[in-house]
Amino acid sequence: MRTKMVAGNWKMNKTLQEGVALATELKERVMNPKCEVVIATPFIHLATVVELLKGSPIHVAAENCADHALGAYTGEVSAAMVASTGADYCIIGHSERRQYYAENYDILRTKVDLALENGLRPIFCIGEVKEEREANRQNEVVKAQLEGSVFHLNEENFRRVVLAYEPVWAIGTGLTATPEQAQEMHAYIRSLVEKKYGKAVAEDTTILYGGSCNAKNAAELFANADVDGGLIGGASLKADDFTTIINAR
Ligand code: PGA
Repeated sequence: MRTKMVAGNWKMNKTLQEGVALATELKERVMNPKCEVVIATPFIHLATVVELLKGSPIHVAAENCADHALGAYTGEVSAAMVASTGADYCIIGHSERRQYYAENYDILRTKVDLALENGLRPIFCIGEVKEEREANRQNEVVKAQLEGSVFHLNEENFRRVVLAYEPVWAIGTGLTATPEQAQEMHAYIRSLVEKKYGKAVAEDTTILYGGSCNAKNAAELFANADVDGGLIGGASLKADDFTTIINAR
């Protein structure tokens, strides 16, 4: 059985004190979740939040890592540094990184490799922009994203990757993919994994949906056979909403 998961992505929100307050609230509320729960925080919060969540089932993720192992890269944070905080996961390839920081397939492939080498599980994001969806090119886009940055992995490493389908037109826009659109794409992604790694790996791959997933629509999205959970942005910033989403999984 593949892992079901609800992951929060705080993005560039919350001061350290606000982040500590939110993590503390989540620790009190999320005692016995039925799925894996992850919160991705800004780098600067990681060590504190990992420490605070000791004894809690909630896992911690970084939102990014550098595309170099170490050295003279002022302002960057390496996968080894992330791992040294005790974080377990690292989001890689979020559309905001692709769009605003020009992260291409090669850069993301390097980040995936570095995360894995350092014992982190990548949460690898893929998804098409609005124009690509309108041109009915979404399948070729996600296929190229997978082939460009994760399908070089051997089976053992690929099994450590969580995929997140996030249609860019749905992120932060309130325009959620319909449950049918999500299921159709998730089934397609699983078929690509099957072609590359075989049926057993495909069946075990966790594929999250992200993009305006919230306390109201989560249950309907998660009810689909190939939607194994969610990557939640805005709605992960409020303990009430995020807890409702966790309980919907
Ligand atoms: P959203 O963001 O839930 O605010 O749409 C999701 C994401 O970008 O991971």
